[in-house]
Amino acid sequence: MNQILAEFTHFFPVWDTTRAAGLTSYLLLFISIVTGITQSFKSIHPKKRKTLNLIHESTGWFGILFGLIHGLVLMFDYDITLSIGEILIPFTAKTDTFSIGLGTLSLYIMLILIITSDYMKKIGVKLWRTIHFLSFPGYLLGLVHGIWLGPDTQKGLISLLYYITGIVVGGLVLWKIVCPRHSPKQTIQPKEEGTINS
Ligand code: HEM
Repeated sequence: MNQILAEFTHFFPVWDTTRAAGLTSYLLLFISIVTGITQSFKSIHPKKRKTLNLIHESTGWFGILFGLIHGLVLMFDYDITLSIGEILIPFTAKTDTFSIGLGTLSLYIMLILIITSDYMKKIGVKLWRTIHFLSFPGYLLGLVHGIWLGPDTQKGLISLLYYITGIVVGGLVLWKIVCPRHSPKQTIQPKEEGTINS
């Protein structure tokens, strides 16, 4: 087993894999939240809305997948081995307890959003909508986690990416608060009927 692990980590070094997966997960989460908000604008054509919704859902799913890879791969690091418990139970890691905990929480929030969207019909649109607002703190936790923990934050291009994506999401959230009439509440129906999911 150790031999297989050694071979695997030779081709996929743990820290390179976790960093690549973390950044990918963050970017997918960003795309998901942006398409989620923009599809709810009244001015969006129904055809475009469908496309945006498809992107919104699939980037959400892949964001979780990469987030899981990003977190779980850390178990295979020989130097700072994190146990599965430290990875999955927020704020229990030996090192960077708080920052790592934020990442775990962000992952759980993403999971809750996906699961509740699948059960929208059962839980009702009102409760689903309330839960879906968690996407904003979920995104923020992922952003802060990435900035605080990531060695790539030191790189100009990556910190620029954090700035731009953060400002875009912040701007869209503000827009949604200031102009709530842009959200076509009445058109949101349970998922099975193939309409908006944000
Ligand atoms: C189980 C949950 C998670 C754990 C245990 C975890 C752990 C970590 C650790 C230890 C690092 C530092 C990596 C390094 O020093 O090279 C890191 C960085 C990072 N994480 Fe997470 N994380 C989790 C969830 C997430 C999620 C859900 C996202 C996406 C929103 C995310 C995005 C990032 C980003 C963008 C970085 C910086 C990567 C870089 O600078 O190259 N993490 N995470």
